[in-house]
Amino acid sequence: MVKLIAAFASLLIWLVTIDIRLSYGTITDVFCLRTLKESIEDPLGYLSSWNFNDTTEGSICKFVGVECWHAEENKVLNLKLSGFGLTGNFPSGLENCSSLTGLDLSSNNFSGTLPVQISHDVAFVTVLDLSANKFSGVIPESLANCTYLNVLRLNSNQLTGMIPPRLGLLARLREFSVANNHLIGLVPTFINSTFMESSYASNTGLCGPPLKACQGFEKLHAGIIAGAATAAVFLMATVLCILFICCSRRVKKLKKDDDLEGNQWTKSFKGLKRVKARLSLKTIY
Ligand SMILES: *[C@@H]1O[C@H](CO)[C@@H](O)[C@H](O)[C@H]1NC(C)=O
Ligand SMILES: *[C@@H]1O[C@H](CO)[C@@H](O)[C@H](O)[C@H]1NC(C)=O
Ligand SMILES: *[C@@H]1O[C@H](CO)[C@@H](O)[C@H](O)[C@H]1NC(C)=O
Ligand SMILES: *[C@@H]1O[C@H](CO)[C@@H](O)[C@H](O)[C@H]1NC(C)=O
Ligand SMILES: *[C@@H]1O[C@H](CO)[C@@H](O)[C@H](O)[C@H]1NC(C)=O
Repeated sequence: MVKLIAAFASLLIWLVTIDIRLSYGTITDVFCLRTLKESIEDPLGYLSSWNFNDTTEGSICKFVGVECWHAEENKVLNLKLSGFGLTGNFPSGLENCSSLTGLDLSSNNFSGTLPVQISHDVAFVTVLDLSANKFSGVIPESLANCTYLNVLRLNSNQLTGMIPPRLGLLARLREFSVANNHLIGLVPTFINSTFMESSYASNTGLCGPPLKACQGFEKLHAGIIAGAATAAVFLMATVLCILFICCSRRVKKLKKDDDLEGNQWTKSFKGLKRVKARLSLKTIY
């Protein structure tokens, strides 16, 4: 009898545990979509089917743009919100869709910068499509931590700065585009793939294979160095000339006057020279 009660009790505990685990998953993904919807604007009303009053398991799987792992379980697999006319900043709440493998926000009117911690928001995505929006600012280096990425589309935005070289470490990447932005500098070297020129087209100043070598930058650099060197030489020559003229005048005057003060001045000038020589020796060693 005691055994039976114990068995029944453990069965009960097991059921309760499972229920807690299920509802925890549910709460998290529902919370994710609710936060996402609240964080953006939906002027065309595409997300009006996202009604969170229905709390049954699998309810969010019927929302437009939402794909679940199983139709009867509130666990989001993919979010496909392309061309919905959505506006606002990069959505919030995505970190609570913890089983998300694909995020497509392409062809909307999203703007503002991409979150620095984007790899925390969408850690397991294999497809990330943010193309054809108005995202600005730099490409977050943390994207390099989304190690499952197969497809990364950032093309047709207003992104600036350089492409983080660490993106080259994304070993599973087989599609990549940053075309049609305002990017500059050397393109990354990818450890397990090469991308065509079209991936980089229409930017402000990208260079390096497969594009043209970064000659423009090197020339500019060389030009700056040459210019600075010329200026330095000119300045030194001018200073020397002035010193020479001053000295010779002073020496002439001294020779005329031949006073004590003049001798002191020449001495101190010589001393200064010695100090200067010592200083330059120090900077060499
Ligand atoms: C959402 O994610 C944050 C950060 O991981 C976590 O602290 C929070 O508890 C989550 N919220 C829900 C409702 O799961
Ligand atoms: C959801 O429920 C609230 C109150 O519980 C109600 O005011 C609202 O109209 C409901 N929304 C929809 C779309 O059914
Ligand atoms: C973005 O907004 C502009 C108006 O501000 C509108 O003309 C355009 O169609 C929108 N684009 C998309 C993709 O919704
Ligand atoms: C990326 O991952 C590495 C190693 O896990 C970690 O040290 C680093 O802080 C992460 N960087 C970002 C920007 O998340
Ligand atoms: C490199 O890419 C190939 C396919 O292009 C893939 O099968 C392989 O796993 C990748 N290597 C690594 C280290 O991810």
